[in-house]
This record gives sequence, C-alpha cells and structure tokens, in this order.
Amino acid sequence: MTTKTLKHMLTLEELTPTDLDELIQLALDVKHDPSAYGKTLTGKKVALLFEKASTRTRMSFEVGVVELGGYPLFLSGNDLQIGRGEPITDTIRVMSRYVDALMIRTYAHGTVETLAEVGSIPIINGLTDTHHPCQVLADLLTIEETFGSRQGKVLTYIGDGNNMAHSLMLGGALSGMHVRIASPDGYTVDETIYNKSVALAEATGGSVTLYTDPAIATVGADIVYTDVFASMGQESEAEERLHRFATFQVDGALMAKANETAIFLHCLPAHRGEEVAADVIDGPQSLVFDQAENRLHAQKALMITLLA
Ligand code: CP
Ligand code: NVA
Repeated sequence: MTTKTLKHMLTLEELTPTDLDELIQLALDVKHDPSAYGKTLTGKKVALLFEKASTRTRMSFEVGVVELGGYPLFLSGNDLQIGRGEPITDTIRVMSRYVDALMIRTYAHGTVETLAEVGSIPIINGLTDTHHPCQVLADLLTIEETFGSRQGKVLTYIGDGNNMAHSLMLGGALSGMHVRIASPDGYTVDETIYNKSVALAEATGGSVTLYTDPAIATVGADIVYTDVFASMGQESEAEERLHRFATFQVDGALMAKANETAIFLHCLPAHRGEEVAADVIDGPQSLVFDQAENRLHAQKALMITLLA
C-alpha cells in the first residue's frame, strides 16, 4: 500500500516505512509552507468525536481542518444518541452520509476497527485504550526535525505499557529506530503488539526491547519519553499505580544516563513530580511544546493524504 491508497489511520500498521517517510516529509512541508495547503480540504467535512477528554487532539484537529480549508464538527459522545444506547454501527452509517471523515477518541480499540469496517469514510484513531497513532506521527516529526533522521536513534520509553508505548513501538519500528520500553513487572506492553513491532523492526534495521530497569534502558538514549502512570479510564487505579511506578520517574539522574544530546518528550498532559520531575519537563532538553505543536502539522499531513 502506498499513502495514495491509505484508507484509515487506526494503528500506524497501515503504513509501510516508505509511506511513513512520505507522511513525515509532507508534514515538514506543511509546517514550513502552510499557506500552500490552505485549500486542500475545500468542501470537506470532518467529524471529531470524543468519548474521553482532550485538549491537544481536539484543538489540533479542529484548527488543522480549518487551516486546510475544510469544516470540522466537534461532537461529544455524551451529547450524541450513542450516549443513550444507539449502536455505533448505525451512527457511523449515518455519519458516512454527512461527512467525509471521522476522527474518534474512544475506549476499546475494537470500536475503531468496527467503524472502519461498517462505515464508508476514513476513520482516524484519536486515541483508544491501546493505540495513539496521531501522537506518534507528531513525535516522529519532532525526532526527524531535531536529529535530521529517525533511523538508528534510540528511544527509551519509561513507564506504563499503554497506548503510547504500543504506538511508539510500532512507529519506532517502522522508522528503523531502537525502541526500549521499561515498565514495572505486571505493567508491560501487549504481547501481540510487541511481536508485531519486533517483526516490523527486523525489516527496517531497528529493534524493540523490553526492560524492567529504567536506568539500564536509558543508557545511550537519544530520546527519553514518558507518559502518565494512570491513563484515562484507569482513575480508580491511580493511587496503586503511583506506588508501583515510584521508581519510574524521569528525573535529572535518569536523564544523565542518556546521551548528552538527548531530548525529553511527553505526549502531555503531564503530572510533574509523578512520571516526570519538574526540572526535566521544564528544562533545556525538553521539547514537549514543540512536540505538541507538531500534532497540528502531522495531522494536517495525515488528513491531506486521506482526503485530498
Ligand atoms: N497528547 C494528547 O493526546 O493530548 P490530549 O489528551 O489533550 O488530546
Ligand atoms: N496514556 C494516556 C495518553 C493521553 C494522551 C491516556 O490514555 O490517558
């Protein structure tokens, strides 16, 4: 498949390494010359449906659609009839008659797969419990901008084996990067997604390796990445997780194990004093706000590819 025939963006597995390179190049171009793309979505309507909270995803998609000349429709799950039990399969059939694409943030990943199967419009995953591909497109754009390439770079992710860890494994593997995931026992990544990432990495010269010791995983890292200990939907586990992840904070001592030129990334929202020390996220190695800005450019490139 080439990006010309890309139909959905659910996990990043829709992309070949070449497709991903093309997307990142397009994102760089969109970022440097946004006005050249101001009419690419003229007449296109994009629904943005949220069943979980969001700041960045909501705003960057809404602004992105407008900047491409399209029309965004923000929808909250609670306000739609799905909140009162209408099947999502009926909802997507109806939506397919009104809009040109749906971006959705939801819980079970199976929901976005069902939507892609039943609907007749492109589905963009704006985060599920197991994947966050749009975030990782922005992360890879940030890495490409910072280092000039992604191939061979060591990305160490410290923390929960969650949606971010999964999408970083897949996106890093497709990029020929060396992805290291350090999580406490019992909180590691999904085995199936790990195996898929390892297979992808074998083809690109990258690697994906699991660790339980954050210090060992961080030695020689180019990128140190972390995310919240308790994700959306895991609020009841927050206290237990704070305890279990106590030795998994990215602090100055951990950053000192990485390369001198290493950068710190976090998808945000962040909890200073939990998964990251304030002096790291607010320090000179942190690129988290450039990373957040890149959501806009990467997703514009994605929408151009899917819709223009
Ligand atoms: N990183 C990210 O997806 O942020 P939001 O939850 O604010 O959209
Ligand atoms: N793992 C986090 C990511 C938020 C952008 C969550 O799912 O809440």
